[in-house]
Amino acid sequence: MNSISDLDSDQFFKDIKSFIEYHKEYFTVSSATFTVSNKSKSIIFDNHNMYDMENKNKMNSEADESLDQRGLLMFLKDVNVNKCVKCKLSETRKNIVFGEGNPSSKLMFIGEAPGAEEDNTGRPFVGRAGQLLTKIIESINLKRDDVYIANIIKCRPPQNRNPYEEEIKQCSPFLKEQIKIIRPKIICTLGKFSTEFIIGTDKETISIVRGKEFNYDGITVIPTYHPSYLLRNPDAKRETWEDMKKIRDLYFKAT
Ligand code: URA
Repeated sequence: MNSISDLDSDQFFKDIKSFIEYHKEYFTVSSATFTVSNKSKSIIFDNHNMYDMENKNKMNSEADESLDQRGLLMFLKDVNVNKCVKCKLSETRKNIVFGEGNPSSKLMFIGEAPGAEEDNTGRPFVGRAGQLLTKIIESINLKRDDVYIANIIKCRPPQNRNPYEEEIKQCSPFLKEQIKIIRPKIICTLGKFSTEFIIGTDKETISIVRGKEFNYDGITVIPTYHPSYLLRNPDAKRETWEDMKKIRDLYFKAT
C-alpha cells in the first residue's frame, strides 16, 4: 500500500477539495492547512463557500471573485496570528486578541495592546477603557458592530506595561495585513503607540498631533487620546469629542 508521501500531492489536494465541495453544507467558518510531501495548501470555508488560499479564488465552480474580507481575516487569524510565537508575549498570553467588528467597515479604531480583560476573553477593548470606547463610538450614532477594532499588539504585555519596540516590529505586520483586508476609509488611532506607528512619527506627543489629519496608504487618519488616558483625564474628553465629530462627518460622507 502506498504511504501518503508516495502519493501525488496534487491529486491528493484535488481529492480533498472534491470531498469538501461535495460535503460543503457541513462546513461553516473554519480553515485548514494540508501538508503533503512538504507541499502545503490552505483552504478556508466561509458560509459554506470554499476558498483556495493559493490563488485566492473561490473554489466553488460558479464563483471566481476574490476572497471576501471576513474569510481573509479568519484565515489570517487562524493560520497566522493564533499560532504566533514570534515574541515572548506568546508565553504569557491566555488568548490572542486579534480584533473584531465589521470586516468591511469604513472606520477602524486602532489601540495599543490587550489588557487583562481582553486577554481573558480574546476580545479587544472590553475592559473599562473598552466600555468608554463603546460609548465614544455610540456618541456618533454608530454601534461597535459597525466599526472594526484592533490593536497593534495582539498579546497582553505583562502588568500592562508599554509594548517594546521589538514587539511592535514583530506584531505590526498582522495589523498592516488587517488594514489591507478591511480597507477602511478612516482610521482613528487611540493614543501614542498606534498613532506613532500609523503616522510614522515619534517626535510629537499625541496632544500635538490630535486635531490634525494624516494619511496612511490613502486612508484618512485621525489620532485621538487613548480611552485609558481619558479615564484618568476626563477633561480631555472634550477634545476627543471634537475628533469624533470630524470622524462622524467623514464617515457619513464616505461612500
Ligand atoms: N487598551 C488597548 O489599547 N487595547 C485593548 O484592547 C484594551 C485596552
